[in-house]
Amino acid sequence: MNKIVQGAFCLIFGMLSIVAGAQVKSVDQKVDSVMGLMTLEEKIGQMNQYNDDWTATGPVTLDNTKAEQIRQGQLGSLLNCMGTRRVRSWQMIAMQSRLKIPLLFGQDVIHGYKTTFPIPLAEACSWDTNAMELSARIAATEASAGGINWTFAPMVDIARDPRWGRVMEGAGEDPYLGSLIATARVKGFQGKKLGDLNAVMACAKHFAAYGAAIGGRDYNSVDMSDRLLWEVYLPTFKAAEEAGVATFMNSFNDLNGVPATGNKYLQRDILKGKWDFKGFVVSDWGSIGEMINHGNVKDGYEAALSAITAGCDMDMESRNYKDHLAQLVKDNKVPVALIDEAVKRILRKKFELGLFDDPYRFCNAEREQRELNNPAHAKAAREIAAKSIVLLKNEHQLLPLSKNIKVIAFIGPLVKPIMQNKGFWDVEVPDIDSSYVVSQWEGLKNKVGKNTKLLYAKGCAIEGENRDGFAEALEVAKQADVVILSIGERRDMTGEAKSRSNINIPGVQEDLLKALLSTGKSVVVLINAGRPLVFNYTAEHATAILYTWWLGSEAGDAIADVLFGDYNPSAKLPISFPLSVGQIPIYYSHFNTGRPATSDTNHNYNSSYNDLSIFPRYEFGYGLSYTTFKYSNLQLSKKKMTSNDRIEVSVEITNTGNYAGEEIVQLYLRDRVGSIVRPVKELKDFRKISLKAGEAKTIQFVIDKEKLSFYNQKLEWVAEPGDFDLMIGASSKDIRLTDSFELIP
Ligand code: BGC
Repeated sequence: MNKIVQGAFCLIFGMLSIVAGAQVKSVDQKVDSVMGLMTLEEKIGQMNQYNDDWTATGPVTLDNTKAEQIRQGQLGSLLNCMGTRRVRSWQMIAMQSRLKIPLLFGQDVIHGYKTTFPIPLAEACSWDTNAMELSARIAATEASAGGINWTFAPMVDIARDPRWGRVMEGAGEDPYLGSLIATARVKGFQGKKLGDLNAVMACAKHFAAYGAAIGGRDYNSVDMSDRLLWEVYLPTFKAAEEAGVATFMNSFNDLNGVPATGNKYLQRDILKGKWDFKGFVVSDWGSIGEMINHGNVKDGYEAALSAITAGCDMDMESRNYKDHLAQLVKDNKVPVALIDEAVKRILRKKFELGLFDDPYRFCNAEREQRELNNPAHAKAAREIAAKSIVLLKNEHQLLPLSKNIKVIAFIGPLVKPIMQNKGFWDVEVPDIDSSYVVSQWEGLKNKVGKNTKLLYAKGCAIEGENRDGFAEALEVAKQADVVILSIGERRDMTGEAKSRSNINIPGVQEDLLKALLSTGKSVVVLINAGRPLVFNYTAEHATAILYTWWLGSEAGDAIADVLFGDYNPSAKLPISFPLSVGQIPIYYSHFNTGRPATSDTNHNYNSSYNDLSIFPRYEFGYGLSYTTFKYSNLQLSKKKMTSNDRIEVSVEITNTGNYAGEEIVQLYLRDRVGSIVRPVKELKDFRKISLKAGEAKTIQFVIDKEKLSFYNQKLEWVAEPGDFDLMIGASSKDIRLTDSFELIP
């Protein structure tokens, strides 16, 4: 067809489609027409998800009949299958099945695909929801170019226990901040709409309360009141749902004695009922079968019955749906309507993703090469990495370092390693070299000029008692004008199944710091970790501390940007850092108690420890800048409001230091008297603003009924009349301005 004829054809076809518009089928109609062709076995097939053989993120079931099962239409999805070549090869087998229903390809794209971004807890320190949306957007662009159409992210579990290894994967302790971050990440992964080539389905996980595992032990039980569940642990999920998240994943833990996977209250009553969630729910890896270990069901038959009844639509790897659902239907234990409901939810997403139009649409090898080598992605990763670094201490304004320093000693076990910077959920992309990382050593080398001499010594290992390297480190330190020491955890010490009872900086690393300080030199400590660690010696003695977490592919350059002031740190902690494991769980929004403790010296029948401070090492919302900010001129538009009303709050922030910088201005409220006791403060809003040296800006907040509401005894969302304290601060402790107002009936 020549171009003109082709154009005319398109025009006529387009007009016909408009005329026939009424007959264009909706997604639901399309789903129904496929459902009408399916046997019960084929329907159950859609509800199974298996692991590919490439890599595993849980206990593997060996199965060499996978291809045949796909050909028979007995599989709906694969996980851990990446790269266009591999994805295409499995999809081709699905296209040999009777109904040619395409497979979904799911993957843990948690903090990047090829380009690795900071671990989620680190990114959360930026409080920059646009930046987090962008990092998820880029991850989705890369993953979708690599064949993936579904990521098992974001993890939106609130976590208040740094012993729990998965604390690294969330946004910290606070439901308000966590909800905004959940929304940003869902929007980032899913883009403008599912069906766009660079959009992947997101998955809000782990539903629910997985982060409250007793003792911080992964997979452990959770016992919690409904009030705490609704007030602290569910809001992030609700936010993800409202942002249009396509899928939910249930969780390994039991909640008050009922495994989350078989928990009808969570999945059917709250998620699919009250919240009217239209997507589908996948189990966690093997969690349907694990209900037998929980002691909640007798065998796989009962496990499948419990999960489907509770509202779990897809079985990740346990194979109990495959083995038992058909029999459960025959035995009249599971109505076909339940199977139909689950399958419809799954097929709807396959249609929305455009897989029925083109099952290979995510399998373009040329696009894969292009997107996975896009320099704009590296640039964004460097920027968000710099925004994630928290300045915890800066004695004598040691930082930023001058670029004219003559000799710098860069010491420590984490200076030269490359892959450590990638953090726990690093994706090993097949057919593509994904080992590109700017090490910390390289980052520093890239930054300093020819006149600066860089010296290196390892000093010691991350773990172990060996001090043999101290002497060399001291030699090197003595020759330097300033010492930078990079210490912390190994990247695989935090993550799934990586809970720890001892969260001190491991090995002899703090002893190395002590030795270096004995030279009289100033020492900047970089702490690399996936969780809040305990490091009291460092906190008290280091000259300056940057908490660098695991920053991803651009770690080295981002760290150098901050060390030398090309980026002025602006991050603030989204989770409290304990002084000691004995304080855990420690979080800022606690209740006052009947016998509140207010100091560490008075233990007179109050709620304190006799042998330990009640205050964290670093509180929620804490983080320094190279500049300083003055808070002034707090004004409230009125002092009394009704629930239909609102109060406008304004406050002036002035950059009083010598550097341009960003400040995260935090607004906390306390409801003085509640029918349910209210926390001593709750974050209700914040602004991240940028100010040149000497510049001042007035920022506005709005207090409305929503910000004053909470779940009462009957779990109704209410605002109760009474007095409220308003606190504006630079952290949850560093409150600079206060006022109060009244909600009147
Ligand atoms: C984790 C999930 C993850 C899944 C698939 C499970 O062990 O809990 O978060 O998405 O494995 O890798």
